[in-house]
Amino acid sequence: MKTGIYYFSATGNSLTTAKLLAASLDGQCDVISLAALHNKQDIEVDYERVGFVFPIYYGDMPYLIRDTIRKMKFKQNTYIFIFTTYRGHPGDVAKRFDNLLQEKNLSLALSKGIPMPGNSYLSTVEQIKDTLANQKTNIKKLVKSIIEQDKIDYSLLPEVENSAVYKACNMRGIKVDEKCIGCQTCIKVCPMNNIELIEGKIKIKDNCMTCLACFHWCPTAAIYMSKEKEIERREKYHHPDVRLTDIIKQKYNEFVE
Ligand SMILES: Cc1cc2nc3c(=O)[nH]c(=O)nc-3n(C[C@H](O)[C@H](O)[C@H](O)COP(=O)(O)O)c2cc1C
Ligand code: SF4
Ligand code: SF4
Repeated sequence: MKTGIYYFSATGNSLTTAKLLAASLDGQCDVISLAALHNKQDIEVDYERVGFVFPIYYGDMPYLIRDTIRKMKFKQNTYIFIFTTYRGHPGDVAKRFDNLLQEKNLSLALSKGIPMPGNSYLSTVEQIKDTLANQKTNIKKLVKSIIEQDKIDYSLLPEVENSAVYKACNMRGIKVDEKCIGCQTCIKVCPMNNIELIEGKIKIKDNCMTCLACFHWCPTAAIYMSKEKEIERREKYHHPDVRLTDIIKQKYNEFVE
């Protein structure tokens, strides 16, 4: 069976999960970057089985996922599943994703996910160690249900309200301070093209989906979350198997090798 795994990742948890998932599934499997597709219109999806791998934000999908899916054209009877990564709990993402697909007269077949280190609120040292060590095993445990095309009717779940991230509005108040050295890494990793260099100064606009890629990859820790005092300048994180170039590439390269 031909499968397309569409992913987004700011700090690598979902990128490594997408790759491991693709390696565990049966048949041909492409791994495709949603950040590279985001600015396209009418995106044809030619796979019989389609998976979306992404981080949970506020019990919901990142804005970029919602926005890109609205432009995707699926074949009828496509088996669509999501495989999320999160620090503690996936919240109401299954219901919200099913609602999104209902706009296209489609439905979500299956929602699975695994705990990973938190890139927003902090995980404990133990949690980071355990989730990274068990990532592969946790994925393998869930693959069978996808191969067997299990289905759950998420339309039966009670309705939920829009989450805080159903639109992009810089709700974390991402800002930059005087430690900035003008390296432009933040511009290169921002999936929303929300950061510009104007007259030698970095400007962060409000079309921000709070992915924190700029925050975690800035080499001088010049970026902070002005509306999130508790974790305003938390320690930086990225998955140990992912490099800055992988995150930059996801904006330009549709297919992951
Ligand atoms: C803005 C934001 C909101 C988040 N909200 C949640 C949440 O509601 N529940 C949760 O368990 N993790 C939450 N997280 C943690 C991420 O889902 C988690 O660390 C994820 O694995 C990061 O994936 P990535 O490395 O692929 O970007 C949030 C992260 C961010 C940046
Ligand atoms: S990544 Fe950091 S140091 Fe580099 S331009 Fe952006 S804010 Fe400045
Ligand atoms: S400005 Fe930073 S946090 Fe906002 S979308 Fe761009 S990279 Fe993500």
